Amino acid sequence: MIEKILKLKQERNAVILAHNYERPEIQDIADFVGDSLALSIKASQTDADVILFCGVDFMAESAAILSPDKTVLIPDTDAKCPMAAMITEQELIEMKQMHPDACVVCYVNTSAAVKAESDICCTSANAVEVVESLDCDEIIFVPDKNLALYAARFTEKKIIPWDGYCPTHHQILPYDIMDAKERHPDAEVLIHPECRPEVIDLADGVYSTGGMVMYARDSRSNEFIIATESGMLHRLERDVPSKRFYAVSDYTICPAMKMITLSEVVRSLENLEYVVTVPDDVQKKAKHALDRMIEVKRGS
Ligand code: 13P
Ligand code: SF4
Repeated sequence: MIEKILKLKQERNAVILAHNYERPEIQDIADFVGDSLALSIKASQTDADVILFCGVDFMAESAAILSPDKTVLIPDTDAKCPMAAMITEQELIEMKQMHPDACVVCYVNTSAAVKAESDICCTSANAVEVVESLDCDEIIFVPDKNLALYAARFTEKKIIPWDGYCPTHHQILPYDIMDAKERHPDAEVLIHPECRPEVIDLADGVYSTGGMVMYARDSRSNEFIIATESGMLHRLERDVPSKRFYAVSDYTICPAMKMITLSEVVRSLENLEYVVTVPDDVQKKAKHALDRMIEVKRGS
């Protein structure tokens, strides 16, 4: 299958982008593996004809928004982020009517229609920097309440969160961190900002998935407890082979991020399916919000 993928990739002039949570074998065949911010930047810069996205729905949609002239494929249309489905365009419009002076920051984990209604997007790597870049005292922050509360720790601005969350990160409890620390007393605890505030309080460092790789590489520590989706362990073990990484628990798995398989990648390249499209008017407005985000410097 790997040989087939390499051949098809050449024939189609395709680039394969994969998120850090994808299955190990998918990460290993990808041309680029990264966090949401790095993947958005790659998708906006590639000169390939086809972008095959191994991630979840909103990531492939962002690639289609950023590169409207490319063919963007997602091998499995069931790979949907449940947090992105927690807010609709209509709900955001109503929230804006309730807070007419507020600017809107939307996490990239949203539909294209929600992005189109937002002033700027953010990822977990730049949420604080994006909030600080705005000339507004009030910020509507959708849909992740945990990331909103995390950003609120670093700003004087009033953050108005939506009540969404990532089921995979929200299920991590303080107990899980304490338990992992007992098993690995010398390890540093790295926590994703989609976790609950009371979990974040127990962190040695709070990072996006890309930030975790950079931190682990540069840190003096040799062991790390990783409080995020389990696919991250493969990425860290591959990039920082001299150090040891422990999952915070056995059940920190995002089912949507595990859906895409090698055989689906083969089928996707063979049949050029499934093509991700965004209506023109939505694409233009959503691109503005994504482009503005890309201009803000990466934080963590
Ligand atoms: P990052 O890789 O941007 O940290 O995002 C985490 C995530 O949950 C993506 O769905
Ligand atoms: Fe969505 Fe959470 Fe899965 Fe990321 S890990 S795709 S935020 S459900």
